[in-house]
Amino acid sequence: MKRVYLVVVLLLVVNIGTRGIVEEENDLQKQYQLLEQSSIKTIKTANGVIYDCVDFYKQPAFKHPMLKNHTLYPQMRTKYTHRTIKAMSSNDEAIQCQVLMLENGGCPTGTVPIRRVSMDDLVQIKTATKNYDMRTTSNSLLTQPGQQFAIVQTNFVSRTTKYYGVRGIFNYYQLPRVRAPQYSSGEIIIRNGDDMIKVGWTVNPALNKDNIAHMFQYLSAGQSHCFNTLCPGFVSTNKDVSIDAGLVGSSKRGGLQRVISLFIYQDAKTKNWWLEICGIVLGYWPQQIFTKMADGATYVAVGGEAFNLPGQPLPPMGNGYYPSEELGITAFWHNFTVLDSNHQHIIPQQTEKYTTDWHYGVYDMMHGKEGRAICYGGTTM
Ligand SMILES: *[C@@H]1O[C@H](CO)[C@@H](O)[C@H](O)[C@H]1NC(C)=O
Ligand SMILES: *[C@@H]1O[C@H](CO)[C@@H](O)[C@H](O)[C@H]1NC(C)=O
Repeated sequence: MKRVYLVVVLLLVVNIGTRGIVEEENDLQKQYQLLEQSSIKTIKTANGVIYDCVDFYKQPAFKHPMLKNHTLYPQMRTKYTHRTIKAMSSNDEAIQCQVLMLENGGCPTGTVPIRRVSMDDLVQIKTATKNYDMRTTSNSLLTQPGQQFAIVQTNFVSRTTKYYGVRGIFNYYQLPRVRAPQYSSGEIIIRNGDDMIKVGWTVNPALNKDNIAHMFQYLSAGQSHCFNTLCPGFVSTNKDVSIDAGLVGSSKRGGLQRVISLFIYQDAKTKNWWLEICGIVLGYWPQQIFTKMADGATYVAVGGEAFNLPGQPLPPMGNGYYPSEELGITAFWHNFTVLDSNHQHIIPQQTEKYTTDWHYGVYDMMHGKEGRAICYGGTTM
């Protein structure tokens, strides 16, 4: 009797679970159709990606149940007191922040660019995201099969320390050999309990439908688990730059480096988490969507992540080579700092290196010429 009851309960749970996902998918499809209909201007990039310029308040972020009454207008952001960094490098051989801006004058004032996604793409992206999410948010501290990391992370001793921001400068590479469902990213991870944000660059054919390096954000908070603007959560505030922008060109190993600066911080007044790229504000994650990260993060990591199906060849990470301490020939994050509880930039000391496979490596240079530098990558080349 007890057993039957248990089965029924399980069936119910499974049923509710799948219905939830299907409903969510339908909602999202409807949402994207609506976006297409209310598009004020359409921009097609050189790579053939279409963006709809939609009213700031009609963007997907505001479908979040906690954001229904959200009235914060982008201009209301309290000015951050610390100067944000523009990507700079003492290395003359660097192109900084040559990215992002949408062609054709960007979107009109009061609107933001949202990538147009077809129904077919959406279904595939949803599946890829679900798998990604299952691996990423697994309660186990161990990584899941196929998921690879080469990172520097705050260690267990520091778990009571709060972090209110993180910044760094990274270089990026084009990695045409990455094939779906593989992906390869350089990223910063900020986490507190089940709340997590990842930001950086990625080659992710399942997500972007191409082999080009893109900017990305990944959000995991409450019911929102997705990349970029594909679920309610991340609010875009920039009319010229989209969070999933394709990156121009590629760093050359031993040659010209293409670098971008990144700054994520929690606004002390509004408690929203803001995202700046190259000193440009792209948007924010409203504090209402978080439970834990409403007040700081307890974990920060920086480096590379990649994925391959178990038993398949390992994808390139970084620039595809094992890292080096020479920034000109390696994938890196440099000038890496975090914001402490006084909102001061500090170089975190309680950290450890973490790699999942000997084919990938990570170096941590505490006092390099370019501040703290984390170099990562490996395999295939
Ligand atoms: C939004 O505002 C309405 C009317 O003031 C209120 O009934 C509702 O509870 C609010 N919702 C949230 C999520 O704050
Ligand atoms: C990076 O760090 C180095 C060494 O601390 C410093 O000289 C340089 O100004 C920093 N660059 C930026 C863009 O902050």
